[in-house]
Amino acid sequence: MSATNLDQLLAPVRVGAMTLQNRAVMAPLTRSRAGEGDCATALIAEYYRQRATAGLIITEASQISAQGKGYPRTPGIFTENQIAGWKLVTDAVHSENGRIFLQIWHVGRLSHRVVQVDDQLPVAPSAIKAEGDIFTVSGLKTLEAPRALLLEEIPGVVDDFRQAAENAKLAGFDGVEIHAANGYLIDQFLRDGSNTRTDAYGGSVENRARFLKEVVEAVIPVFGADRVGVRLSPIFDGFSMSDSNPVATFGHTASMLGQYGLAYLHVMQLGQGDFDFLELKRLFGGTYIANGGYDADRAAAAIVSEKADLVSFGTLFLANPDLLERFLLNAPLSEADKETFYQGEERGYTDYPVLPGVHTTRG
Ligand SMILES: Cc1cc2nc3c(=O)[nH]c(=O)nc-3n(C[C@H](O)[C@H](O)[C@H](O)COP(=O)(O)O)c2cc1C
Repeated sequence: MSATNLDQLLAPVRVGAMTLQNRAVMAPLTRSRAGEGDCATALIAEYYRQRATAGLIITEASQISAQGKGYPRTPGIFTENQIAGWKLVTDAVHSENGRIFLQIWHVGRLSHRVVQVDDQLPVAPSAIKAEGDIFTVSGLKTLEAPRALLLEEIPGVVDDFRQAAENAKLAGFDGVEIHAANGYLIDQFLRDGSNTRTDAYGGSVENRARFLKEVVEAVIPVFGADRVGVRLSPIFDGFSMSDSNPVATFGHTASMLGQYGLAYLHVMQLGQGDFDFLELKRLFGGTYIANGGYDADRAAAAIVSEKADLVSFGTLFLANPDLLERFLLNAPLSEADKETFYQGEERGYTDYPVLPGVHTTRG
């Protein structure tokens, strides 16, 4: 890679209300290490502190309500104790001059009765089941058909997103990322493979994007648009996700989001089929974070060619707390250990090595 290209990746950038020290973002990574009451802990704070040299950290997804939970030990953002747990994390990252957004999340149909309160069915736009299994505290369970949200229930879920943003602010986050990607509730509303509603939230692209629009409009007054990001994944096809016309669905969604002056649009670009992400970036018109399989070379090239303003790294940041120093020194990267993605406490979490003599802090 040319040094000039790498300089671009490591150059400061204005994103919404903040100036970030570089354009390398830590992508959201669920790690299933929350403590009692689904609270972030001192261990979780240490993990994020180690990675505070990222231009921006986007946390693992955090459920906005008990109903929004799908997996064991994911941290929530709807109780006093959860706010206090996240405060440990924001303090640790800020002590290293890092910046951190909370990813706010409702899993929709990707849950199970055994995870839900009072054995309730998970909710979704429509009663359409995703194929596959889900890992729960009671072992692997086959996904069931969810219950379709009633029209009158939708404002309550939108309000849970607003409250989660209020709580994120109390916990000291610099902003929030609305998780509208990867087959979870908002994505289930966006795509016609999971949304067959016949009311104002289904049918046309405008109707399917209405839920996201309402969530965005509920969250903006809390932080200001310049501290709110949105994540999309137009061609992600896991969890039985599909859409008959991703170009139309996500083109409309990006234009709609472009009206608000948001901090950024964060796009997970991996999946099936061709898709013109440059056009998506153009339709949004604001700061664009690209994600999915990037290394330093590809990231720098994307920035230099203006295909992305910033790039986020998932597994590379997971396994390399000093990722930026490694990029700078062209040093070898550690491999991520899949077995400890969602278990292992400090193992495969806070014990990835840093280069000798390199500090993971800015000092
Ligand atoms: C262990 C693991 C957990 C993940 N958790 C989340 C999550 O909580 N929220 C989210 O939007 N994406 C999540 N992702 C997707 C990543 O953010 C990212 O899109 C993916 O790893 C591809 O980027 P990469 O090639 O740089 O790793 C997760 C990925 C992995 C490997």
